[in-house]
Amino acid sequence: MNNQDKINKLIELRAEAKLGGGLNRIEAQHNKGKFTARERIEFLLDEGSFEEFDMFVSHRCTNFGLENNKFLGDGVVTGHGTIDGRVVYIFSQDFTIFGGSLSETFAMKICKIMDMAMKNGAPVIGINDSGGARIQEGVNSLAGYAEIFERNILASGVIPQISAIFGPCAGGAVYSPALTDFIMMTEKNSYMFVTGPKVVKTVTGEDISIEDLGGGKIHASKSGVAHFLVEEEQEGLMLIRKLLSYLPQNNLEDPPINECSDPIERKEEELNQIIPENPNQPYDIKDVIHLIVDYGEFLEIHRNYAKNIIVGFARFDGQPVGIVANQPNYLAGVLDIDASKKAARFVRFCDSFNIPIVTLVDVPGFLPGSKQEYGGIITHGAKLMFAYGEATVPKITVTLRKSYGGAHDVMSCKQLRGDLNYAWPTAEIAVMGAAGAVEVLYGKKLSKFEDPEDRKKFQQEHEEDYKNAFANPYQAASLGYIDDIIEPMNTRFRIIRGLQSLSTKKLVNPPKKHSNIPL
Ligand code: HXC
Repeated sequence: MNNQDKINKLIELRAEAKLGGGLNRIEAQHNKGKFTARERIEFLLDEGSFEEFDMFVSHRCTNFGLENNKFLGDGVVTGHGTIDGRVVYIFSQDFTIFGGSLSETFAMKICKIMDMAMKNGAPVIGINDSGGARIQEGVNSLAGYAEIFERNILASGVIPQISAIFGPCAGGAVYSPALTDFIMMTEKNSYMFVTGPKVVKTVTGEDISIEDLGGGKIHASKSGVAHFLVEEEQEGLMLIRKLLSYLPQNNLEDPPINECSDPIERKEEELNQIIPENPNQPYDIKDVIHLIVDYGEFLEIHRNYAKNIIVGFARFDGQPVGIVANQPNYLAGVLDIDASKKAARFVRFCDSFNIPIVTLVDVPGFLPGSKQEYGGIITHGAKLMFAYGEATVPKITVTLRKSYGGAHDVMSCKQLRGDLNYAWPTAEIAVMGAAGAVEVLYGKKLSKFEDPEDRKKFQQEHEEDYKNAFANPYQAASLGYIDDIIEPMNTRFRIIRGLQSLSTKKLVNPPKKHSNIPL
């Protein structure tokens, strides 16, 4: 074989590897409305930036005749490329080869790029489309999964990890995405479950469809496993590019600051009218967010899950921030188990990656009742408290309206090391609402009224007294718990000024192995 023959062989082998499981299986993939592993990578990365590793790796299994059935690449395409010019590492499972099932060598390929991502401090993106453990490989495949899990765990808080689920992801395989920072699912063809519908039926008798058990819609709304739900793959891949634009490459870097032409002193008259006169009337906190952030752009996370709290990324004068905001439009913005978990995880992500947190407060309290207590609202609420209290990134809190009881403390109050705590003049910062307070303080007296009209009059008078004393920000401001009471229309400017002043913040927690957050 002369040198030209050797080069030709390389070209042939590359072409063979690029065909994955072959044209028929590629066609079958397309017929399901899915792209191939390589098409997904091409679409996601900057044009021409992909550098592939381990194209010539194939499995070593000799069970069930597999020694005669080998494919170059062995069912996963791995390598690195760039997104907006920044390096990312990527693996994309290839369903056309053994259904994207995971072998020992398949796992080694993923581990290799994860190790390189850690060494070079760059994000890892995993595109999942797999039948799970390669059945013919037995326990080797389980060990391979565990190698990946361990790397997911060690990389957590060091480099961003993003998972897209563009096909099946079942059994123990779900735990790699679950250990990453963000999971994206599509409305169709995207499934995650620990046990599939057939096993569910056998074990519990429950009859349930694959979509209802572990489809994208379910995980984006009910379980909260998925952070993003998109209609189709290309929309999802574009969203990953957008998400990364808010994030640093690793925990030692700051997030990238964009050029910004949106005026920092932009006043929004609409904000002065946004709080309804009736304190029980809702409004949409997302209107407030859109009015104050750069160009009104907000990347919402967990849009369909625990809608009583809103979390996501935005920018102020080009500086990325994480926004946490109670949503009066849904369950009056009350804090419950799901809302606490959702916000706590987000706060911890921001803190891991040096992203300042802006908190907008309008919270009537924690949701009362046995359902919440039995579900452990105490532990879950404590998660959010813990996340805020532990966070060392700049924290700016603006109280728009209600801030009652334990929920006041949890929502990034001054004593949980809030750096700048502002309130609008419409803020109500107190132990509890007026009606509840009068019930508690005057319970005995109220029970003695014979005439309901007299009782009502007494209640109203005392509620008014209580509101005058506490349903405002001035008691908190007089004690220094609120740094300033600001005019709503100036909120954008005050937050930007605050972020500028906090850009050199240095705060270090006491040395420890790790904390023991109430999980
Ligand atoms: C080996 C597999 C495979 C697997 C699919 N294939 N899954 N080969 N190991 N796990 C192969 C099929 O034999 C088939 O090969 C090809 O991939 C395409 O699969 P189809 O079944 O034809 O595709 P489809 O009808 O789309 O169904 C997809 C599927 C189904 C729902 C994923 O293949 C399936 O149920 N697979 C098994 C899923 C599973 O139970 N996995 C183990 C989970 S437990 P040919 O040559 O015929 O085209 C697990 C433990 C992990 O993963 C633990 C980690 C701690």
